[in-house]
Amino acid sequence: MENRLQSLKNEALEALSAVSGQQSLEEFRVKFLGRKGLLSSVMKELSQAPKEDRPRLGQLANTVKKEVEALFLEKKEDIAAGEQAHAAEAVDLSLPGRFLPCGKLHPVTQVMEEICAVFEGMGFAVAEGPDVETDYYNFEALNIPKHHPARDMHDTFYVSDSLLLRTHTSPMQARIMENQEPPLRYIAPGKVYRCDSDITHTPMFHQVEGFLVDRSVSFADLKGVLTTFTRRIFKGDLPLRFRPSFFPFTEPSAEVDIACVICQGAGCRVCKRTGWLEILGAGLIDPEVMKMVGYDPDEFSGFAFGLGVERIAMLKYGIDDIRLYYENDLRFLHQF
Ligand code: PHE
Repeated sequence: MENRLQSLKNEALEALSAVSGQQSLEEFRVKFLGRKGLLSSVMKELSQAPKEDRPRLGQLANTVKKEVEALFLEKKEDIAAGEQAHAAEAVDLSLPGRFLPCGKLHPVTQVMEEICAVFEGMGFAVAEGPDVETDYYNFEALNIPKHHPARDMHDTFYVSDSLLLRTHTSPMQARIMENQEPPLRYIAPGKVYRCDSDITHTPMFHQVEGFLVDRSVSFADLKGVLTTFTRRIFKGDLPLRFRPSFFPFTEPSAEVDIACVICQGAGCRVCKRTGWLEILGAGLIDPEVMKMVGYDPDEFSGFAFGLGVERIAMLKYGIDDIRLYYENDLRFLHQF
């Protein structure tokens, strides 16, 4: 009897350690602790034991039963805790996905890319140059010597005596021409800097420079390219106006205006009541510039233009304050 109790206890402990879930736990309970379970049947056999042994065997049977019950309850709690933890880290595949806001290109970048695409369609190659430029390329190579009054037109941010933040993209004309022979056709998009700020000026803005050098290039070629460009970018026939102007690096020079699309030419605060908005400066490349890059001005001629990207974007989208582009207000930026 004593041996049977001991081996039953060992069997129960072994079986319990193999229990891993609610179902096997219940099977264990029925087999060992149930009313018709193994422990009960051993208890019943007690009545057949010799009378004098009964109290001792009864006590032993009770201890075994209590031990097995205690271990059973412990196991039950372990299993319940394990199931709860598992439920907490489970993935609910029916939950809706998390919303990730999608970024988009800044309107100025979008228009810049469109402008480049139009010129690339006309056979122009794209080149980029440094924002921190030398005094030589920004001014001298463009026929603007030191102390020339034309330097006053540019409110320059100087980095040192000979370095500055480029005030226009025109230095790219000299940089490219001095390294290549005509014929060439380039655009140079990028940031430019001027110490200026009001509703049509920001201290940093974007320009796209364009130039073409070949034999017998005329002002008519310039007009043709610019007219095609404005038709394509504004998708319609907006009036263009060429006004005689002056740039030290072009001769003759012109400023090109486009009819103000905000007021349809009637006059508003954006066009300063003129009905026109200046979008670019242009002209035939000055023979002095040609000579400085080693071209023979009697053999080659060319045209150049520099256009303001923010201006064009304002016209395309009817924006009346250039500073809106740089305030980082998402309600504004998301409209494009
Ligand atoms: N660089 C001039 C400006 O920023 C524009 C320009 C470019 C004029 C090319 C003529 C030729 O004002």
